[in-house]
Amino acid sequence: MQTRLLPDTPAGIEAARAILRAGGLVAFGTETVYGLGADATNDRAVAAIYAAKGRPGRNPLISHFSTAEAAFAQVAATELARMLAARFWPGPLTMVLPQAPGCVISPIATAGLGTAAVRVPAGATTLALLKACGFPVVAPSANPSGRVSPSDAQHVMAGLAGRIDAVLDCGPCRVGVESTIIDLSGPVPVLLRPGGITLEALEEACGMPVALPVAASNDARPSAPGQLSSHYAPGLPVRLDATSVRADEALLAFGAPLPGSPVVWNLSEGGDLHEAAARLFAGLRFLDMEGQRRGLVGIAVQPVPRHALGRAIRDRLTRAACPRP
Ligand code: TXA
Ligand code: MG
Repeated sequence: MQTRLLPDTPAGIEAARAILRAGGLVAFGTETVYGLGADATNDRAVAAIYAAKGRPGRNPLISHFSTAEAAFAQVAATELARMLAARFWPGPLTMVLPQAPGCVISPIATAGLGTAAVRVPAGATTLALLKACGFPVVAPSANPSGRVSPSDAQHVMAGLAGRIDAVLDCGPCRVGVESTIIDLSGPVPVLLRPGGITLEALEEACGMPVALPVAASNDARPSAPGQLSSHYAPGLPVRLDATSVRADEALLAFGAPLPGSPVVWNLSEGGDLHEAAARLFAGLRFLDMEGQRRGLVGIAVQPVPRHALGRAIRDRLTRAACPRP
């Protein structure tokens, strides 16, 4: 299969819509990362996502909508969910809620959990595509399962060309880390994955604490179903919280770079967490490629703070550093 690169024009969006409608797979850029989209109501199309990514079938997918109203037709929204939608959508927040009666999302996408993950992403092109589709679009990050997420169209091509129908080029992703996932299906809100909306902002909006799964609070294993411990993995091993770097290591710097590495990518010289998030996945890809080309043995990562967007950045880096299965 030849993967088409579609331009960010009305004709490109219409071509993407037609492919999705016919059950094909189209990657598109949200504000967080590129997603690999399929018609959420089409079992065969949803199954094709798992095949193209090599994704374990027990790991459910997020459904994307152009409006909160469309999302809340598929899930039973609580008052808190409506309030968070008004505050953060379109934007990098995903809510897990019980499925509504008559929910049209394929059971393959929800892994038979009885809940569904829903979000309204930001980005004019993606919203125009979702609006034109009129059906929910499931989209996991558009990378082979377990590897580094894509934050531009070329990253998607590098990982999935030949395995999907098209990529809608929406330019580089503004946020750069995936959406924050909050589980609102139980008695108290639980943070399943830190992401583009900070925990601090969520708790302020909720007016109550958001529970952390026990392990996530100390940077260890996440608890969203199917969130495997090794993820976002480059080819080279990753070493966290480095306070020195060797000449045979590539360096992912934050702030003033440590001396001694021949290959450096600075997430943010000024220590800005928004800039760091937006540059994270491109940096891991660059250091991996350039480091391997020069025969280096690993990637050392300077400490990133634990607050605000630093929580999501550290989460991705921690899993990039996990021992591979
Ligand atoms: O920013 C994002 O969220 C991107 C863009 C494309 O929207 N998507 C994304 O999808 O990151 P993915 O598949 O890489 O991550 C989806 C996460 C998985 O960890 C999955 O376990 C969780 O969402 N999830 C999906 N449905 C769920 C459910 N019903 N209950 C709990 N977790 C769920
Ligand atoms: Mg992913």
